[in-house]
Amino acid sequence: MFKEEIKKTKLGADIPLIYHFAMLQDEQRMLNFKDAIDSSVPVGGKVLELGGGTGVMSYYAAQKASKVYCVEQIPENVKAARKFLSSNPNGDRVEVVQANAFEYLPPEPVDVVICEMIHVGMLREKQIEMMESFKRRYRARFGDRLPHFIPEGFIQAVQALEYDFNFFGYNAPVPLFQIPGDKTRKSNELSDPVVFQTAQYKDSLPNSISWNGTFKITEDGNLNSVRVILKNLLTAIPSENRGIFWHNQYLILPLYNPLSVRAGEEVELSFSYIMGCEIEDLLDSMTLNTKFAPNHFSKPEQTLAGYLSR
Ligand SMILES: C[S@@+](CC[C@H](N)C(=O)[O-])C[C@H]1O[C@@H](n2cnc3c(N)ncnc32)[C@H](O)[C@@H]1O
Repeated sequence: MFKEEIKKTKLGADIPLIYHFAMLQDEQRMLNFKDAIDSSVPVGGKVLELGGGTGVMSYYAAQKASKVYCVEQIPENVKAARKFLSSNPNGDRVEVVQANAFEYLPPEPVDVVICEMIHVGMLREKQIEMMESFKRRYRARFGDRLPHFIPEGFIQAVQALEYDFNFFGYNAPVPLFQIPGDKTRKSNELSDPVVFQTAQYKDSLPNSISWNGTFKITEDGNLNSVRVILKNLLTAIPSENRGIFWHNQYLILPLYNPLSVRAGEEVELSFSYIMGCEIEDLLDSMTLNTKFAPNHFSKPEQTLAGYLSR
């Protein structure tokens, strides 16, 4: 029941317009994308944005580009993007195309492609599938030289956590998002983050991931959750020896059977999932074992999926 309810709350292709407006307020996201776009788009260049939303990224690109193709499939978003662009400087350089970005290609080669269909864990949205589809079709039409991609790549990590799931007296261990750096809820980090994936969009990307790794516990505590971290490299600027990054909100996944751990112990985590799948598909596949303590997670009903299907 609970699991089904989570599944129904689809993201990705149907983010309501009101959430797009909220994204405009996210300073960390907007300023870093603006900086990356400004640093990467050549003066007079051609740009393609896949999934344009309100058109804001295309607008940033249009300050340097001579032409921006902004593809968006939701009619309400297309209408909003056209309206906003018409009242912003150089908005006339952006052509908002209502189309499915899995099928659309620009009429000419482009210098830069912007694509932000990104969810923490690379879950729920179709970023990987979209980029693979785009590269295949673009190469077939325009040859091997690919445009510069924003973002360029990403790194994903997991971290052992003790998280406070008590909400003003009400205990509810549920999947949650957490703004990086937000200290309003008590969460103790019980290990360093452990990297489980790095990728660059210009390379061939896997459509699934299978991982088995170890947390080295750094603090005594109650291991009751795992934090999933996604850090996007929006663009590298080698001449300035720096990169521009954007962190998605962290995803906190509760564990059914919290584990009492001590500094120095090792805990093994494994999972496998298809990119773009639902949160609970990742949960379904997740198993946790301590190396130096009784196996708390050996029974199938004690997996995270077991917890969520209750
Ligand atoms: C996370 S939003 C980002 C919007 C915008 N780039 C921004 O940064 O504010 C992803 C956008 O991609 C669009 N989208 C998702 N799948 C698409 C598809 N197959 N074709 C065209 N647009 C798509 C969504 O409607 C949404 O507007």
